[in-house]
Amino acid sequence: MRITVRDIQKMKEDREPIVMLTAYDATSARLSEAAGVPMLLVGDTLGMVIQGHEVPIPVTLDHIIYHASIVTRVTNKALVVGDMPFMSYHVSVEQALTNAGRLVQESGVSAIKMEGGESLAETINRVVDAGIPVIGHIGLMPQSVYKVGGFRVQGRDLETAQQLLRDAQAVQEAGAFAIVLESVPALLARLITERLHIPTIGIGAGADCDGQVQVFHDILGLFEEFVPRHTKQYA
Ligand code: KIV
Repeated sequence: MRITVRDIQKMKEDREPIVMLTAYDATSARLSEAAGVPMLLVGDTLGMVIQGHEVPIPVTLDHIIYHASIVTRVTNKALVVGDMPFMSYHVSVEQALTNAGRLVQESGVSAIKMEGGESLAETINRVVDAGIPVIGHIGLMPQSVYKVGGFRVQGRDLETAQQLLRDAQAVQEAGAFAIVLESVPALLARLITERLHIPTIGIGAGADCDGQVQVFHDILGLFEEFVPRHTKQYA
């Protein structure tokens, strides 16, 4: 039996740090699972580290399904999360439901991830209602890189920090089982982590989140085009 979303939530209750790594192929998935990583994300970062793009925008649902199918095929313990790519859930709630259903049925992932806060709450709620666990993603949302003008830290001033607090609350209330906080000040990430009962998974969000997510290629020094400041390279 694979690790469940309930197991991940219990880790927060037990104050056990949650580790999440990206995986896109048989090798990254097998190595990470063998190392005991409980949650694998087939992220749209595959656009950069696998496909060679500068941004995740060109990644399609079919690409994610293809890579996620490999990851679920070669693992049997980790909770595998599939990333909903750019424009696969923005058009309407119906579009999000259809595509989330495809991702789960065709790739075998047990949960999906979507970027967005308050404005995505209804979509998250309907997808969760359909029986598909959702992990939210706020702060720096790489699918909005053109809108925000680059991969920048979010929530540095009072107004944007307050909006992120509202976003986190809305994502939790919509039924997400956990939330990724990307590139937000450590103090704000700590505040959100204290206020939410669902686990926060940080990336560039300080050490006080309930868990951390990293890109497989970054921590192994396999991606040299850009090394994020929050990444520790182990090889
Ligand atoms: O696509 C991805 O890999 C992600 C993580 C970096 C959080 O969204």
